[in-house]
Amino acid sequence: MDPEQTLREAHERILACEDAIALKDIERQYIGKKGAVAEMLAAIPHLAPEDRKAHGQKANALKKAIGDALAERRAQFESAKLDDARRADDFDPTLPPPRAARGSLHPITQVTRELEDLFISMGYEVLDGPEVELDHYNFEALNITKDHPARDSQDTFYCDKEGQLVLRTHTSPVQIRAMETRKPPFRVIAPGRVFRQETTDASHDHTFYQMEGLVVGEDISVAHLIGAMKTLLRGIFGRDLDVRLRPGHFPFVEPGFELDARCPFCESGCGVCKRTTWIELLPCGLIHPNVLRAGGIDPERYSGFAFGLGLSRLVMLRHNIDDVRHLLDADVRFLEQF
Ligand code: PHE
Repeated sequence: MDPEQTLREAHERILACEDAIALKDIERQYIGKKGAVAEMLAAIPHLAPEDRKAHGQKANALKKAIGDALAERRAQFESAKLDDARRADDFDPTLPPPRAARGSLHPITQVTRELEDLFISMGYEVLDGPEVELDHYNFEALNITKDHPARDSQDTFYCDKEGQLVLRTHTSPVQIRAMETRKPPFRVIAPGRVFRQETTDASHDHTFYQMEGLVVGEDISVAHLIGAMKTLLRGIFGRDLDVRLRPGHFPFVEPGFELDARCPFCESGCGVCKRTTWIELLPCGLIHPNVLRAGGIDPERYSGFAFGLGLSRLVMLRHNIDDVRHLLDADVRFLEQF
């Protein structure tokens, strides 16, 4: 094969070629893996040693020349395409470009920030706690001993062989951490992620969000608790709602309650309140003396209240979301709505 002849022929074909697809074909035939240049290179071992170098150089020069010609033709196609577009009637260079897509805050983040602002305005401090927690803080210090049945309803993920390290099942361990590092009186909230060993369904997930509240001082009573919860409701729903307390059992509060609020969406019963006109808002209660003691606080002198707001549930209620798992799915079609 004569390299000059090959180059001439390639040039002609490239110039005659009318579109990018045909150009690809030419590229394959000349400088592709099984193309003309590859053939030239494959012949080298069969040549006399003194001819090999010159032959190799020729092959490489041919490859480069054809490559350049292909690139040039491809650029011509591109600019012709642009020219066509500019000539077309609907090309308006004065139009602004399409708007860049903007992200938004996750609905859990939104509600967390709103509630943080609300509680900060009431003099609360916002605390963080570890998500991988010691058994001591997650259970023992909260009056949930090793054999306590409450451990069944808050089955967790153990992170070590000894069973001392757990993924926290609630934000309540932050209560103890707050007591250990503060002197009464104090008020704190602790929003965050919690984990449970659950079979997931529309209303249960293995990972969800809570916000703990804790107030400790002299003579703190259920009246203070109700007052704080009514303010919380005003913050969430924008108006005053009646509340009621039902007894509820949690080992770390005594007495313990389930606090319900009047359904903010109806007057006489709807789907959200399951026709009862009450919605279950949160569990709460006065801090058990054992828990104060575990946190290094004298229960003879101080008392306090605690509540555990389910942030995931609250977000579902607020936006009428029917499946808790949407919150962690990271599906843009869901997230775009907020
Ligand atoms: N930690 C409890 C739970 O997750 C809720 C709770 C918090 C109850 C504070 C009472 C007081 O189930």
